[in-house]
Amino acid sequence: MTTFSIIKADTGGFVGHSAVHPEMLSTAQDRLRDAVGGGLLLDGHAASCGDDVSLIMTHEHGPDSTAVHEFAWDVFHQTTAVAKRLGLYGAGQDLLSDAFSGNLRGMGPGYAELEFTERPSEPVICFLADKTEPGAWNLPLYKIFADPFNTAGLVIDSKMHSGFSFEVYDLYEEKRIVFDCPEQIYDLLMYIGAPARYVVHRVDSRSLTEQAAATSTQRLSLIAGKYVGKDDPVMIVRCQSGLPAVGEVLEPFAFPHSVAGCMRGSHHAPIMPVSQAQAHPARFDGPPRVVALGFQVRDGKLVGPRDLFDDPSFDGARRQAGEIMDYLRRHGPFEPHRLALEDLEYTTMHALEERLTDRWQPLPAQPVPAGL
Ligand code: F6R
Ligand code: MG
Ligand code: MG
Repeated sequence: MTTFSIIKADTGGFVGHSAVHPEMLSTAQDRLRDAVGGGLLLDGHAASCGDDVSLIMTHEHGPDSTAVHEFAWDVFHQTTAVAKRLGLYGAGQDLLSDAFSGNLRGMGPGYAELEFTERPSEPVICFLADKTEPGAWNLPLYKIFADPFNTAGLVIDSKMHSGFSFEVYDLYEEKRIVFDCPEQIYDLLMYIGAPARYVVHRVDSRSLTEQAAATSTQRLSLIAGKYVGKDDPVMIVRCQSGLPAVGEVLEPFAFPHSVAGCMRGSHHAPIMPVSQAQAHPARFDGPPRVVALGFQVRDGKLVGPRDLFDDPSFDGARRQAGEIMDYLRRHGPFEPHRLALEDLEYTTMHALEERLTDRWQPLPAQPVPAGL
């Protein structure tokens, strides 16, 4: 079995929270090469989206492997050291714990992992996002695996016709549920339409009994109990031969749907599909970005990546995202551009509100209308 892992962290920004420094990426790539040479990994590729470094790795240790997670933890300490030396912004931002213990759960870095027996040809797409949260994958995952208006294969491919099952996490109450689709799409949508709380964690093919997709589902603020940036999620999707085609997996991103994140992790904004060269939030620390890196996995080796959004067929989505930004930005500090109050709970606004607590007075008593 091959394990495909993406482990990511924001360990410092260049400039501000906009990108990573090339030296951080080359440090990560060097360490990945060493780990392949030393036999820990089958292969490794370092990539970035915005201020997050992603370690894209293949190995044979299974998901949640102590050795692989500890390796990633060490790499992030080394990229943090580069960030500190260069005076980059927020060096070590996502490393919330002092010491490594067992695996990365609750320690700050995000990860998506899945395990498979390699098919004769194994196309995999890695989606990396910046300035948003894991629930940002809910809408595209629904379209890819449950919407026949997006995915023609659901209707006309016999291996896809019996549908996919979605495992959904409740991030607030730490529980999970599985929905078999298409029968349970209405139940699924009841929950995943609220992406701040309910997040699709994995998708499985029902006829092939294969895992098709995995997402990173940590919420940093819930771990840290205070605002420490959005989680900037990653996702792995396997494609073709009874799973959605590459073009069906990319198709939802032609619509720059609204996600939570952007400036101070506190605004709704459209997610913009971009090439790696454009994967750097700018205007209003946004709009949130997503890149799609395609690989063919061969004997555990990563053949690629292909930069799949580096294509004019996504120009329309980028243009539309710019127009939606114009519209939303004119709301300034008003909802629905700014997140609803309950989603701002872990931001610095909460501390400001506390300073005003004493100035709030009860409303004057209302005169009771005669006759009541
Ligand atoms: C959002 C994000 C940025 C920062 C903003 C303020 O996830 O990372 O929008 O929140 O640039 O950053 P600080 O408070 O570090 O100056
Ligand atoms: Mg940052
Ligand atoms: Mg980030």
